[in-house]
Amino acid sequence: MNTIFKLGACAFALVAVACSKPQSGANAEIESNIDALLSQMTLDEKIGQLNQVSSYGSVEAMADEVRAGRIGSILNEIEPANVNRLQRIAMEESRLGIPLLIARDVIHGFKTIFPIPLGQAATFDPEIVREGARVAAAEASAAGVRWTFSPMLDVARDARWGRVAEGNGEDPYLTSVMGVAMVRGYQGDTLGNPASIAACAKHFVGYGAAESGKDYNSTNIPPAQLHNVYLPPFEAAAAAGAQTIMSSFNDNDGVPATGNRALLTDILRGEWGFDGFVVTDWNSAGEMLSHGFCADSAEVATKALNAGVDMDMMSFAFVKELPRLVKEGRVSEAQIDNAVRNILRVKYRLGLFDNPYVDESLRDSVFYAPSHLAAAKQAATESAVLLKNDNHVLPFGSNVKRIAVVGPMADAPHDQMGTWVFDGDKDKSITPLTALRERKGISINYAPGLAYSRDNNKAGIAQAVAAARQSDVVVAFVGEEAILSGEAHSLADISLKGAQRQLIADLSATGKPLVMVVMAGRPLTIADEVAKADAVLYMFHPGTMGGPAIADLLLGDANPSGKLPMTFPRMVGQVPIYYAHNNTGRPCYGSEALINDIPLEAGQTSLGNTSYHLDAGFDPLFPFGYGQSYTTFAYGEPHLSADHIAKDGKLTVDFDLTNTGDYEGAEVAQLYVRDLHGSLARPVKELKRFQRVNLKPGETQHVTFELPAEDLAFWNPEEKRHVEPGQFQLWVAGDSQSGQPIAFTIE
Ligand code: BGC
Repeated sequence: MNTIFKLGACAFALVAVACSKPQSGANAEIESNIDALLSQMTLDEKIGQLNQVSSYGSVEAMADEVRAGRIGSILNEIEPANVNRLQRIAMEESRLGIPLLIARDVIHGFKTIFPIPLGQAATFDPEIVREGARVAAAEASAAGVRWTFSPMLDVARDARWGRVAEGNGEDPYLTSVMGVAMVRGYQGDTLGNPASIAACAKHFVGYGAAESGKDYNSTNIPPAQLHNVYLPPFEAAAAAGAQTIMSSFNDNDGVPATGNRALLTDILRGEWGFDGFVVTDWNSAGEMLSHGFCADSAEVATKALNAGVDMDMMSFAFVKELPRLVKEGRVSEAQIDNAVRNILRVKYRLGLFDNPYVDESLRDSVFYAPSHLAAAKQAATESAVLLKNDNHVLPFGSNVKRIAVVGPMADAPHDQMGTWVFDGDKDKSITPLTALRERKGISINYAPGLAYSRDNNKAGIAQAVAAARQSDVVVAFVGEEAILSGEAHSLADISLKGAQRQLIADLSATGKPLVMVVMAGRPLTIADEVAKADAVLYMFHPGTMGGPAIADLLLGDANPSGKLPMTFPRMVGQVPIYYAHNNTGRPCYGSEALINDIPLEAGQTSLGNTSYHLDAGFDPLFPFGYGQSYTTFAYGEPHLSADHIAKDGKLTVDFDLTNTGDYEGAEVAQLYVRDLHGSLARPVKELKRFQRVNLKPGETQHVTFELPAEDLAFWNPEEKRHVEPGQFQLWVAGDSQSGQPIAFTIE
């Protein structure tokens, strides 16, 4: 087996696991083929390989450019016949017969839509995430697409940012595990398989830390944060063989990512040994003008190429400027050769030189295949997070015969698919209303109350309330339309929109058992509504099969097992809010005085007051990792293999996990660690391991986590990445706020 990736200091043990995967073959033959091609290419043909364009819509319009070798990759062409015609022109009519690379944003499914990535993260199940990516690859490649701009690995701690929907939430470790799973799913066992597509880890890097959650905004991430929080998922994806990396839109501390050589070359290639190619985000090279980082497009091209960009998506600065810049000696042809080599290497690995064509008959059997729908349903089921279940309202027992189904998301086939759906068909979505109506033994009173999530027209609410009164229980489907999250859709207020809050209040006043099912692209501030509901099931937009999954969960054919991949704030003013914060000099231990505890005309004092908001307190509404089940789980006392380990040693933690309730169910056991003192202040807890464990009622399973000391390493400016001896604490629990600390020491 060829080892492509030289490993620098790896962020996580999973990096090492990732490296043992069969690679796509950086081999001497490919490199010598590239040498041979490069020696025949004109400068214009080389620059053409660096150019990615969005489909202009017709093959004829693009034919001349493809024939002349001026396009290396096309995004957004998904008609197989067109893909084949374009590839035929590239292969047979261009001088050197170099295939095109066809790309698309396949973010959480191509036709069969899986839950949005944030929902997939809530499964804490890398295997279903890998399978989802595999399904996406099979469907997308059947349309001729061989490269997706996914996974999005931006750690995001601010729910105002619309793109939290596209990522794996706030935690670098969870994001890394899920990112690796997606890369493996897309790329399969071998990239040369026509049903494999190249992955793109994006957006490199820090994009999720946009100021005040406004998309495209500046970030100010200091080096240690960058290395300890934002870079690790990309390092893991690169080590897992992700073939491409996308440079992000944001400027961090004044340097736009697309012009940042320290990131795109020194770290990515120098430290991590990445040998795929770097693509810009859409016009992110050109936007270096708006950033005020470049004065003209010649400078754009120079800075992007010098930084380490290989392919320019849609700024055209490379095609426009590089010919002249080479002639003037401002950039060297060797630099361009290097970028071409990186791109051709990926095209070779994908097998495109041997066969760039798609079998046009595949679509019918591949799109929405029954096995794809089954996997999407499983993913949706596992993504559901039960936040509240007073008096065991859920699942509905045989005494529940009449169900009032209300709310704007009950029958919203488009919106339940979530953001970034270009190709999924809404008429394939099965809504909760449809799924519930198909179930035997219950009758459904449907009265939506509101037509869509932003609807302020309260006229229908009375009907919804009447339906509730006539029923044994009421299920209110609320949340956000798909368009309210995703790229360029950030919010300053993340509470329920339209008259949904009124709807919940009025339903609650009926006294009927109220189950609130939320479908959204982000954590919402729903403290009041949670208080009013008897049970709350949180679904991040669940995709094509959301309805059947929800029906199973409500009726007890499935048991919720999802856990929150982001901390839920009580109020938007608490964001950014995340569990792995530093302790601060005046940490809040939960005995905070709130605004109404303050006496009138109280004198100025800071005594007793610590780091929290007077009007929100310190705690979130729900912590990271939280999620209930219809059953209960008991954690046995964890046993550590040693209470002292060496810097190069390993800790084994094992414990019994028992299902102490009446339903079969899965628990996500989580292991957190705290480094008590260090050369830098360290987070109060960091997720280091997790495992989904399925248990029958009464069943006990022995769970073992292996934790090499190396996984407790962190980066500081002087010593770079290192393990610091000292005292640590460890927790094993069902969420980030539970469990008892156990001490251990690294010597
Ligand atoms: C987004 C990327 C996406 C690209 C191509 C950009 O606007 O930021 O995530 O992959 O467009 O569609």
